[in-house]
Amino acid sequence: MIEVRNVWKEYGDQVVLERLNLTIKEGEFCSMVGASGCGKSTFLRLLLGQERPTRGEILLDGAPLPGEPDAHRGVVFQRYSVFDHLDALHNVMLGLELPRAKFTGRLFGAKRRAARDEAAAMLERVGLGAALNKYPQQLSGGMQQRLAIAQALMMKPRVLLLDEPFGALDPGIRKDMHALLSELWRESKLTIFMVTHDLKEGFTLGSRVLVFDKVRVDPQAPGAYGARITYNIPLDRTRDSASAVHIAQAAMQGASDVQLVSLEGIRP
Ligand SMILES: Nc1ncnc2c1ncn2[C@@H]1O[C@H](COP(=O)(O)OP(=O)(O)O)[C@@H](O)[C@H]1O
Ligand SMILES: [Mg+2]
Repeated sequence: MIEVRNVWKEYGDQVVLERLNLTIKEGEFCSMVGASGCGKSTFLRLLLGQERPTRGEILLDGAPLPGEPDAHRGVVFQRYSVFDHLDALHNVMLGLELPRAKFTGRLFGAKRRAARDEAAAMLERVGLGAALNKYPQQLSGGMQQRLAIAQALMMKPRVLLLDEPFGALDPGIRKDMHALLSELWRESKLTIFMVTHDLKEGFTLGSRVLVFDKVRVDPQAPGAYGARITYNIPLDRTRDSASAVHIAQAAMQGASDVQLVSLEGIRP
């Protein structure tokens, strides 16, 4: 469903990503790990259509990705800028209003009531049923991320892009978010790409783990080579995740003499 064909991304003479090749079926949950600065967020921006590869192409169902971000792809960042001047309900309704009411940016009458009900149901779904009229600054970090996820899901994307979505949350809240995300993923056909610093998180949630690593380094020209996908690890979801983490750690130690990602996760 998503095909990445010989994709390169360069900024000036700095090669960030090189020779990426990847085929991802609909409904996969790809966790992406790798050293800070190796191009994971850049790869997400390419998937989002916010940026174009300098070489190669990305196909969605056999057709080149639209040049602009669209409703097919929802995105949640570590610190998502939900709109501070809108309460939770209206933040989520916005996801319905923007694409459907191109000219006015608003819906009216019965359509607006339907959008309201849909948004309220989505907030209920992510555990914010009691916070419909709260503003983002009245919500905890975990609640704001739930809100961001609800907003992204409201547009019914086929692909959800998550850039270290839980990196700023406390461990207990993170666990709740893991449960929520797993549940949302399992009951939909959503394809998910999630960057994480936390290897264990990647293995617990993903159906596949992609390891990004810069294999070739020229000390004279640090920008000469980009990162590649050095490991593409399909996970058997029935295998217990602890042993899977073990396998990945071994794989990553083989990949480089630098320990790229610690088991406990590196706080950004
Ligand atoms: N718009 C840009 N212009 C120039 N360089 C960029 C731009 N975006 C990212 N980079 C560079 O690309 C590299 C990878 O960045 P990024 O994708 O954010 O890494 P990661 O998310 O893996 O930490 C970094 O060296 C960064 O400085
Ligand atoms: Mg990043």
